[in-house]
Order: sequence, then C-alpha cells, then structure tokens
Amino acid sequence: MVTIKSKKEIEYMREACKVVALMYQEIENKIKPGMTTLEVDNIAEKVIKKLGAIPAEKGYNPGIKGIPPYPASICISINDEIIHGVPSKDKIIKEGDIVSIDTVALKNGYNGDAARTFMIGKVSKDAERLVEVTKQAFFEGIKFAKPGYRIGDISHAIGEYVKAQGYSVLREFQGHGIGKQMHEDPGIPNYGKAGRGIRIEPGMTLAIEPMVIQGKPNILELEDGWTIVTEDGSLSAHYENTILITEKEPEILTIL
Ligand code: MF3
Ligand code: CO
Repeated sequence: MVTIKSKKEIEYMREACKVVALMYQEIENKIKPGMTTLEVDNIAEKVIKKLGAIPAEKGYNPGIKGIPPYPASICISINDEIIHGVPSKDKIIKEGDIVSIDTVALKNGYNGDAARTFMIGKVSKDAERLVEVTKQAFFEGIKFAKPGYRIGDISHAIGEYVKAQGYSVLREFQGHGIGKQMHEDPGIPNYGKAGRGIRIEPGMTLAIEPMVIQGKPNILELEDGWTIVTEDGSLSAHYENTILITEKEPEILTIL
C-alpha cells in the first residue's frame, strides 16, 4: 500500500531522516584506514541512540526462510561488495577502498533511510568516477520525482544514465516507499520504462537508491545470507536518500 503522509507524519519523517544525516556527518569525520567495519557500526549506533532514535536494521527480519535477522546497525560493503555487508571485527578498512554504508533510523515510529559511499584516502580514478556517477544517478532520477510523472520515469532516468556511463545497475534490489515501515510500496527499480508505474503524488516519501556496478550486473550472495557481491569482482557503489514529494521539487530529507 502506498501511504500519503500527513503534515504531522512528515515532521516525524524529517526527524528520523535528520538522525541519519547527522550520523553520516560523524562517520565522514571519523572513518579512517585501519578501522574495522564493526568499529564504524559502533560509531553509527552511538549517534543514532544519542539522537533518540533506534537503528532499525538491527534485528530486521526479511522473512525469507534460512536468512537470519540482520545483526547490526549499519550495512557496510567494501569494494566488490554491493550491499548488505555485515560489520565484523575482522574486516579492516584500507586506504584506497570504497566503502558503502546503508542505514535506517527509526524515530517516533517513522523511518529514515540513506546510503553513502565513502572514498578512503586516495582511491583510483576509476573508483572515483563510479562513486560520482552513482551519486549523480540519484539526482538524475529525482528530476522526475514530482507530480505529473510516474515511478517508471525515475527508474528509467537512473537506468539510462548509468548505462550511458558504461556501468550496470543492480537489478535484484530496488528503492522503495518508506514511512512507518522501512519498506513500503511502491518498489522503485533502478531501471525500467518511462511512463509506467503509479503516479507520483505530494505526501509520498520515497527512498531512491541507485546501486551501481562497474562491470557486469551478475551477483553472488555470500554464505552469511546477507552480503551481495559482484560476480566479476568489479567495484560497486551505493547512494540513497529519503525524499518527500511536494507540489514542486522534491525535498531531500536525509541531507542536512
Ligand atoms: N537500508 C536498506 C535499504 O535501503 C535495507 C537494509 S536490509 C537490513 O532498503 F536488513 F539491513 F535492514
Ligand atoms: Co532503502
């Protein structure tokens, strides 16, 4: 079901989204080579809790047989890991890595969801271009995130832009509506046909999230039941914001 948020709900969404934005500010300042991904998880969890929110990914149960509830406060995926990398005390961040972090904060019963890819120290030109294209893909998509367009227009814009840059999008996972639930309707694929899907209306809150692969779009799932990696070992990046649809331009709620 697609939910249209009331004024009051929009205020709650703003608050949850602000927590995520502040958390990324803190991570941006602190993330360094030599840190473990579990240390980054601890930093994130502390900020979220200090700001009166709950790390909503922790304990999240996708309801798929054989897959355990998600064990941490953030997803942290390095280089060829695309999404859902699980924080670990054995996983060390290195100079030159690209590190994608995806987090959801729950506050007053509403969720805010965003992802960023951090470049650790000096990264290769190729990696840098991938990270920039992934971010730009989000902005290409939200050009259509307003009344008069449909969800397929956002999907199409993201997919075509990424393809034109010589990269692939992840096809098995997608953006989504967001509110009381972390994942609400509509699903928002990062590829598709323009003019298809439901109409975009004021009061919708949407998580738009290009997940971009440098090489072929084929993926593998690791034995932990969570981590998704590229089959060809090529790099991947992720950029996501929760946005509010208005009468005019969308508002990006997870940017300060
Ligand atoms: N935050 C992710 C998204 O963008 C979902 C992560 S799955 C979880 O939709 F298990 F980690 F919560
Ligand atoms: Co999301």
